[in-house]
Amino acid sequence: MSHPPAKLDINSDVFKLPILEGSVGPKVLDVSKLYRETGYFTYDPGFTSTASCESKITFIDGDKGILLYRGYPIEDLAESSDYMEVCYLLLFGELPTKKEKEKFDHDITYHTMVHEQLNHFYSGFRRDAHPMAIMVGVVGALSAFYHDSTDISDPRQRLIASYRLIAKMPTLAAMAYKYSIGQPFIYPRNDLSYAANFLNMIFAVPCEEYHVSPTLEKAMDLIFTLHADHEQNASTSTVRLAGSSGANPFACIAAGIASLWGPAHGGANEACLKMLEEIGTKDRIPEFVNRAKDKSDPFRLMGFGHRVYKNFDPRAKVMRKTAHKVLGELGIDDPLLEVAMELEKLALEDEYFIAKKLYPNVDFYSGIILKAMGFPTEMFTVLFALARTSGWVSQWHEMIEDPVQKIGRPRQLYTGPTQRKLTPLDKR
Ligand code: SDX
Repeated sequence: MSHPPAKLDINSDVFKLPILEGSVGPKVLDVSKLYRETGYFTYDPGFTSTASCESKITFIDGDKGILLYRGYPIEDLAESSDYMEVCYLLLFGELPTKKEKEKFDHDITYHTMVHEQLNHFYSGFRRDAHPMAIMVGVVGALSAFYHDSTDISDPRQRLIASYRLIAKMPTLAAMAYKYSIGQPFIYPRNDLSYAANFLNMIFAVPCEEYHVSPTLEKAMDLIFTLHADHEQNASTSTVRLAGSSGANPFACIAAGIASLWGPAHGGANEACLKMLEEIGTKDRIPEFVNRAKDKSDPFRLMGFGHRVYKNFDPRAKVMRKTAHKVLGELGIDDPLLEVAMELEKLALEDEYFIAKKLYPNVDFYSGIILKAMGFPTEMFTVLFALARTSGWVSQWHEMIEDPVQKIGRPRQLYTGPTQRKLTPLDKR
């Protein structure tokens, strides 16, 4: 739908800003010609009011707590689809037919092995290296192994690189875990589902058969689906910005992993579990809630708040349900779940959190489930990166194929020294 342009009056000079409308969500003011026409930049640290691109992949309504992947509500995909279907949906825009899914499953499965030389990369790290540090290094290094899928101008190479990344992330992630505990790497198995294969590479040992629990397989697959994509978050924007320079897809995904690692972003699941462990018991919750409200204290409630959601993160609701299911089926009575439930209750009743519309986000419950499944906290963000790879590559594809895309190069509001004369050292 076309709209009359907005008018910007700068010292009685009136400039017209085109208004663009998407299929759903806020309209945008097109400021792409603002500097050329007015000599002014826009200023928006953290991009709180800035749309960086046009996209057809994921839509979030933060006020209503809605998350759609290519128009399908996350709750419906969590209920009725598996992660491979979601990867196909994000990449190609439609859910696969039965035949398309079988072929996609096969193609991904037959890319899960990594070049044997990559094993040597791991031995260069200390055994206690954080697995995210290993993932940043090893994923970036994939471009040294897969030269035949780094020409981003070739759609076929772009797709092969995307398949390789989706397929190999579980293998690399499992290798990072095995390396940290001094166990041998377990090769991928083509007879297992994506999630079961990952769990097998994580928990199996060469000395005996490992049977993947259907409960864990379903929970793992669901966690991958919930983390697959999320519009233009920090790590996805990092992947897009890196890709806008023409960098190869492996380097772009490595940049996304680095950005996701931060505790304000994908590192929050690890930070949240550590926070719950520090709280320890329900009676200490008020102390931490008060700290989170204290402006002089940098402490924040990990797993709470979100740049976009000003309502419940729909993924947190599914996660909460899954936490109860997994712990129940595993017969695990984790007091941290009680602490988390009580913390959620108290925070949601607290004036501060209500006023600032701070709700639990996807990271609030994921740590409890992953701990129950046997993952160490250091692996939590690795699993997030593994799952988000499908979203990252889909967004990267969309950017490369966007006819208006160009290298991302923001400007600034400069407040440093104006030009001045240099006094040579011997005179200073
Ligand atoms: C993810 O972007 C995505 O989509 C990310 C993600 C994805 O799928 O890719 O959803 C994954 O990263 C989820 C978020 C995980 N991070 C955390 O749980 C860390 C704790 N949360 C906060 O750090 C914070 O809420 C952010 C970083 C998530 C959002 O920060 P914003 O949008 O910059 O909001 P803000 O910091 O401006 O907060 C608004 C106000 C501030 O108070 P005032 O300065 O207005 O007085 O709310 C306060 C903040 O101090 N606030 C919190 C809080 N989060 C925000 N106060 C206490 N505890 C918190 N958790």
